[in-house]
Amino acid sequence: MFAFASFLALAASAAALQVTQPSNSTGWSTSGPNTVTWSSVSTDNSNFTIVLNNQNSYPAYTEVLEALVETSEGSITVNPPSGGWVAGTGYRVNFVKDSDDLDQILAQSDDFTIEQSSSSTYSSGSSTASGSASSTGSVSVTKTSGSVSATSGS
Ligand SMILES: *[C@@H]1O[C@H](CO)[C@@H](O)[C@H](O)[C@H]1NC(C)=O
Ligand SMILES: *[C@@H]1O[C@H](CO)[C@@H](O)[C@H](O)[C@H]1NC(C)=O
Repeated sequence: MFAFASFLALAASAAALQVTQPSNSTGWSTSGPNTVTWSSVSTDNSNFTIVLNNQNSYPAYTEVLEALVETSEGSITVNPPSGGWVAGTGYRVNFVKDSDDLDQILAQSDDFTIEQSSSSTYSSGSSTASGSASSTGSVSVTKTSGSVSATSGS
């Protein structure tokens, strides 16, 4: 009985494709692209399709993020779906066989959260900054304390 159980554990750990990011400790944010990483073994499918899924929302949310991903890449940056990232909890990333059959799941991430981010630039800490912008689109910022980031419009 014990031997049988440990054989199963071994089989499970050798069985393949595993989503390592996003996880419940490293979620996603609504700004910009997000990263998916995975581990695999040589017997895995050579490609798969990445689906973002949320069974907690009603109706259930399902978006194909990227089709025909090469398993050997190990990591990919995915752009937001057409409706943008929707902030919320209870998301999972599924790796499915192909985009015609979203129920053939090869691997599944932890439950994770997509955090609302109000803009793609941010400043942190208590900081003060003075700056000037010219009409040609260049920006200069003088940092006096803390950290500041800024982008220039053009
Ligand atoms: C993250 O998910 C794993 C597997 O589902 C679980 O064991 C772990 O307790 C979770 N951690 C947190 C912080 O929710
Ligand atoms: C995708 O993977 C499947 C299964 O491993 C394989 O049969 C198919 O040829 C692959 N397609 C491409 C375009 O690599």
